[in-house]
Amino acid sequence: MKRHFRVWRGDASGGDLTEFDVDVNEGEVVLDIIHRLQATQAPDLACRWNCKAGKCGSCSMEINGKPRLGCMTRMSTFTEDETITITPLRTFPVIRDLVTDVSFNYEKARETPAFAPPVGVAPGEYRMQQVDVERSQEFRKCIECFLCQNTCHVVRDHEENKEAFSGPRYFIRAAELDMHPLDARGDRKEYAQSSQGLGYCNITKCCTEVCPEHIKITDNAIIPMKERVVDRRYDPLVWLGRKIFRRDELEDTESMAPSGSTGVTGVAAGLPLSSSRLPEGPPVGADGHMDVAELAAPIQGGPSPFGEDVTFPLPPEEIVYTHPSTDKH
Ligand code: SF4
Ligand code: SF4
Ligand code: FES
Repeated sequence: MKRHFRVWRGDASGGDLTEFDVDVNEGEVVLDIIHRLQATQAPDLACRWNCKAGKCGSCSMEINGKPRLGCMTRMSTFTEDETITITPLRTFPVIRDLVTDVSFNYEKARETPAFAPPVGVAPGEYRMQQVDVERSQEFRKCIECFLCQNTCHVVRDHEENKEAFSGPRYFIRAAELDMHPLDARGDRKEYAQSSQGLGYCNITKCCTEVCPEHIKITDNAIIPMKERVVDRRYDPLVWLGRKIFRRDELEDTESMAPSGSTGVTGVAAGLPLSSSRLPEGPPVGADGHMDVAELAAPIQGGPSPFGEDVTFPLPPEEIVYTHPSTDKH
């Protein structure tokens, strides 16, 4: 049957939604329709894709206003008379049509400190308990589709925040390494707070909502990281230590500098291998609730771009795509 589509077409200088009526067969996904468009009506329509199996993370786009993978969005999820609107990821600059420049994410990946191997243990000799492996396995499922990065309101409408904010994909990387029993850096949380912009996140969970791998980004990575930062900042013993010792005497334990020189824990600090380290649970107050004082941090993100009480799909007339170049005028 024929279905009606609106596809954003343009480049860095601007563009618009173009209307198409396309044949759709049973069992097809949105990416199939884009391929049919390329084969029949718009041979120069640009779209990035690779696996068509939800595993390469290339075909990220916004479908009826919701960030999704084109290859994992079945046509059967739309009603027969529904207009399907496809726009590029909004947070990244458009190269052409549905292809955006996602290099922001690669820059943030480069800035994220890599796994720090323990001193004195050669590759191949690393030993971890299965429970430790399972803990971070969820984060390893990330396919780097950047849908979470695209959705996060801290950068979606705020270009100026990009320099200071790494985004949810790199918070899960930081959490994964923080939970890694053989990682020799002891300051992952503090680094996330001071250099990756963890404080900008106000745990709206929009990133979790769009993750095609169903990674619980906010609950399992961001909140535990925030809780532990708060725990250290408000730890009464640390507070007392600050009162008793001079700042320079505390520097070695509180430094935010790369842990090549400071903050070394675990094997590198001469402690037994990972499995004997007790898991760090989120701290709870006397009332049994987790401390959310971090939410009062001076730097906060803005409200969710989707507003409150929004349900998807959005009606076609409510879907807008503001080209970054027109934003500036
Ligand atoms: S919870 Fe909200 S503010 Fe925090 S990283 Fe996810 S989308 Fe961004
Ligand atoms: S965390 Fe999820 S949404 Fe974010 S890049 Fe990885 S797979 Fe994509
Ligand atoms: S084409 Fe690989 S995730 Fe869609």
